[in-house]
Amino acid sequence: MYKAPRGTTDILPAEQPYWRYVEGQAEAVCQLYGYQRIETPMFEDSRLFVRSIGQETDIVGKEMYTFEDRSGDSMTLRPEGTASVCRSYLERGMQSLPMPVKLYYFASVFRYERPQAGRFRQHHQFGFEAIGEADPALDAEVIDMAWQLYLSLGFKNLSLVMNSIGCKKCRPVYLRHLKEYYYKHVDRLCPDCKRRLEQNPLRLLDCKQPACHELAEGAPKSSDYLCAECAEHFQRLKKHLSTLGIPYQLDHRLVRGLDYYTRTVFEVQPEIEGAQSTMGGGGRYDNLIEELGGAPTPAVGFATGMERIVLNLKRQNIAVPPIPGPLVFVAYLGEQAKEEALKLSTELRRAGVGVLLSLGERSLRAQLRHANTVSARYTLILGQEEVESAQVQVRDMGQGTQERVPSAGIIAELARRLKQS
Ligand code: HAM
Repeated sequence: MYKAPRGTTDILPAEQPYWRYVEGQAEAVCQLYGYQRIETPMFEDSRLFVRSIGQETDIVGKEMYTFEDRSGDSMTLRPEGTASVCRSYLERGMQSLPMPVKLYYFASVFRYERPQAGRFRQHHQFGFEAIGEADPALDAEVIDMAWQLYLSLGFKNLSLVMNSIGCKKCRPVYLRHLKEYYYKHVDRLCPDCKRRLEQNPLRLLDCKQPACHELAEGAPKSSDYLCAECAEHFQRLKKHLSTLGIPYQLDHRLVRGLDYYTRTVFEVQPEIEGAQSTMGGGGRYDNLIEELGGAPTPAVGFATGMERIVLNLKRQNIAVPPIPGPLVFVAYLGEQAKEEALKLSTELRRAGVGVLLSLGERSLRAQLRHANTVSARYTLILGQEEVESAQVQVRDMGQGTQERVPSAGIIAELARRLKQS
């Protein structure tokens, strides 16, 4: 027996109502905020991700699905969506569009992680990026949009945590102080953090090891080292969020796992604590486009894991609308009736009525049972007698009533009844 690769899953029909529901709400929110859909390839030149996400991050260091293609080029299955969108923005000349350029995507994402509840090696993200505007009102709008998505899905008890990690100008000063602090406690750090201290000291703040976590509590805070511009940006963002009535908490340890962020970073978490609890995260990345070869272009965005949303919808017992199947089942008895049933089913489908046609030779009772299990509203029954008299038995499955109607008007009649109900 073959098995799906570890850390992947099949999204079976029973799960689909959750996925369609989330996608529908996400699309609706994008329309409200003026975002347009983009699709980018599932794999890219590996250098794109190394450059944008950062050599010293877990994603680039340990989690990428990288392979050499047949011409010897290094390719990587996308481990996130932002870098690809920025690559496309530059390559397809979107710089000439009115700013900000607002794009959203649904993308499968690949990270070689240790699988557990809510953590997969292939997961799916819904994300959106607003490129070309530095105004903190845009940060507020992006945060508001993420927040509204979760509210529209029916979530309660979520928290929004936020931080500012400064810019090229002020961050080096902060990092110096952060390193000094950690050097004083280096013997208490986990081996990973000892190694990261030189290359990527920000990462130490979100280490989950108990000793490191405790040390992070007392570490210098990036928000205390912001330059005047970053401090003002953060101040104005907080004011905008208060104006919008969005409740946020500040967390000086929030740094996110990708190196491209500048200034604003934020995450949305459900009330259940734990490493895999983050439902979505994002922030500003004002240097990324320039690092990828473009002109200096500020940008901000967000992404949320579809699997984590579905997991939390279930945890919070949020009901989602079912996906209706065909409302009509067509049953028959006998060879000639079968031909008529086949014809009738096709005519109904051409008229826009969904039909499930019985197959094989089964008793009427077995066919009605089948109709019940697929929740058909009506079953049309054809037997020799019906064929000869050009009639059809129409059975209302809810009421258990049955009547004979002329075949001639059956399509219009059924369409009318289904519309009515
Ligand atoms: P991220 O925080 O790495 O950000 O991923 C976004 C979301 O994807 C997470 O909050 C989580 O819900 C989900 N996720 C991540 N890894 C996994 C996994 N292994 N299994 C299941 N779900 C997962 C980004 O990727 C950024 N590109 C977000 C962004 C957009 N920043 C600016 N624009």
